[in-house]
Amino acid sequence: MSLVVFVFILALASFCQALENGLMRTPPMGWLAWERFRCNIDCKNDPQNCISEKLFVEMANCLVTDGWKDLGYEYVNIDDCWMAKERDAKGRLVPDPERFPSGIKALADYVHSLGLKLGIYGDLGTHTCGGYPGTTLDQIEQDALTFAEWGVDMLKLDGCYSSAEYQAKGYPRMTRALNATGRLIAYSCSWPAYQGGLPPQVNYTLLTNVCNLWRNYDDIQDSWDSVLSIVDWFSKNQDVLQPQAGPGHWNDPDMLIIGNFGLSEEQSRSQMALWTILAAPLFLSTDLRTISQSSQEILQNKLMIKINQDPLGIQGHRILQEKSHIEVFLRPLSNSASALVFFSRRTDMPYHYTTSLAKLNYTQNAIYEVQDVYTGEIISGLKIEDNFKVVINPSGVVMWYVYPIRNLDQPFSFLNQLYKRDTKKFHPFPL
Ligand code: GLA
Repeated sequence: MSLVVFVFILALASFCQALENGLMRTPPMGWLAWERFRCNIDCKNDPQNCISEKLFVEMANCLVTDGWKDLGYEYVNIDDCWMAKERDAKGRLVPDPERFPSGIKALADYVHSLGLKLGIYGDLGTHTCGGYPGTTLDQIEQDALTFAEWGVDMLKLDGCYSSAEYQAKGYPRMTRALNATGRLIAYSCSWPAYQGGLPPQVNYTLLTNVCNLWRNYDDIQDSWDSVLSIVDWFSKNQDVLQPQAGPGHWNDPDMLIIGNFGLSEEQSRSQMALWTILAAPLFLSTDLRTISQSSQEILQNKLMIKINQDPLGIQGHRILQEKSHIEVFLRPLSNSASALVFFSRRTDMPYHYTTSLAKLNYTQNAIYEVQDVYTGEIISGLKIEDNFKVVINPSGVVMWYVYPIRNLDQPFSFLNQLYKRDTKKFHPFPL
């Protein structure tokens, strides 16, 4: 190899910081401890709910036995408060020995044996938000190696006890360190959540090259107000945020709180629908051992998950805010399909909302079929100028999966003949 080529390769290696890990081509799905279980380390008094290997083993078991894994919920993610208060003599992070007696590697092995993946949490700074050892700049490579040796599949790197300058150096440096381990580790950055500003003062071009997903905004709490504040912030900033999402790089409005204490059933349906429209990661943060049937049904809705996981990976956005306090969100999907969410911010009674596809920016002159994502009801033969009515409950949604079944500009095209209405799949022979 000539010296010039060698120097060129060296230069590329040192400047290239892209996260070329090929992971998360669709929004990640799994379970994350934080919102529901927080920093509960009191295993003496609350052994069922404290942050311990037992909790993660039990959640992993539920993911498999209760059908979650088969639907795509594959990550089991540890959040803060898993560590011992001090690093070991060699400066390595160690799990709390009483709460994780088998160690993280054993937990990863177990999770992998179930066909699931393990995520872990760290913090770029002197301490985690909960006061556990942080990852300082000079510890980045060592921590990346430790996570890789343990067989970890995802890292959430938080940004407490840090500074803007520190984060600008540290987040891309962790990308390089993870790449250098040779293990595929998905990377969730909390970087933009610490940057703020309206519109957010974030270098998204850099971010999409460096992280698989990123927390943009405040932590979700167990309340409808919290969900609304996130939806408001995402809608207000949608022109900046929407173009950033795509296969391998996602905006993260934070965990799903469905199954906990703060949301009514209508509101639970709304969170799921809105997160799906936003092409958001779907991280459950609830107790899967005791979740109610109705919450489970919302979170396991197959058509919803299919929409969330659409291969085009286009984030949807709010297209209308009516004076009646009805909002409409639209997400384009593959095969000329789309998803619509009619969202009511009203607090009085179910609202009868009349509109047409044309009023919702549909231009393709076609006959459409619609499937209501929650009721399963099918409406056939809708043209763009046809008026229709949806009834939306207070703080609830109606969600539609919309797909053209006949293009009226080419009424007898071959493809239309092949298109099977109920499964949305092309078939090799006309049906
Ligand atoms: C921050 C993060 C949360 C969670 C906590 C843990 O607040 O944004 O998601 O990880 O820290 O302490």
